[in-house]
Amino acid sequence: MSKVFSAHAVSVDGYMTGRDPGAGRGLGDGTMLFDWYFDGDTPSRLFDGFRLSEASARVFDACAGRVGAVVMGRNTYEDSERFGGGGPHPTARPFIVSHRPAPELTERQTLVTGVEEAIAAAREAAGDKDVGLMGGGVLTEALRAGLVDEVVLHQVPILLGGGRPVFQALPAHVRLRLVEVVPAPGVTHLHYEVER
Ligand SMILES: NC(=O)c1ccc[n+]([C@@H]2O[C@H](COP(=O)([O-])OP(=O)(O)OC[C@H]3O[C@@H](n4cnc5c(N)ncnc54)[C@H](OP(=O)(O)O)[C@@H]3O)[C@@H](O)[C@H]2O)c1
Repeated sequence: MSKVFSAHAVSVDGYMTGRDPGAGRGLGDGTMLFDWYFDGDTPSRLFDGFRLSEASARVFDACAGRVGAVVMGRNTYEDSERFGGGGPHPTARPFIVSHRPAPELTERQTLVTGVEEAIAAAREAAGDKDVGLMGGGVLTEALRAGLVDEVVLHQVPILLGGGRPVFQALPAHVRLRLVEVVPAPGVTHLHYEVER
């Protein structure tokens, strides 16, 4: 069965955006969280225009290559300007989780009203690939539902001091097992498995 995992760029103090993110403003004052996508000489095999350090390219392409479908929160969808009618990944189908209708959806985009339902639909669309989660709200909901297998944090050495947190409140502890650490220029890649 396909795995469910998240991979986010995050500050040391746990933010996945800076202050005031939004459509047209991207990550707000936290745009440096994505600097490592473009600060090297190694092109991504999957994402046009990305040039990473060799170590980051290896980690990034390994993650991106696993993704067969994406489940994202409504804030990620809106703040990324609805991905221009597509999705965040060149081939994976996007599923958007929201309680509200989204009349502007394109044929490639699917709206789902709950995380469990979205992950089930994404698993089906992903075939033998995995499901990627995008957004702190959606990641937290999926952790609450016990549906997350792995968490990848691309940790950037900055304290942003504010923004959207990658992890929100949980009703109980969730134990993680650190399975890989890859230090790279401007970022440390931390790969955890969720203990069940
Ligand atoms: N640093 C990175 O790597 C990275 C990666 C991706 C995104 N981002 C950015 O990080 C921010 C993420 O924001 P976020 O964590 O606040 O939001 P999010 O997870 O993208 O979206 C949260 C929204 O999703 C909907 N939702 C969540 N759980 C739901 C459920 N169980 N059932 C129905 N709907 C549900 C709700 O929308 P409704 O209110 O419509 O119901 C909720 O307000 C965005 O600004 C995004 O651009 C950063």
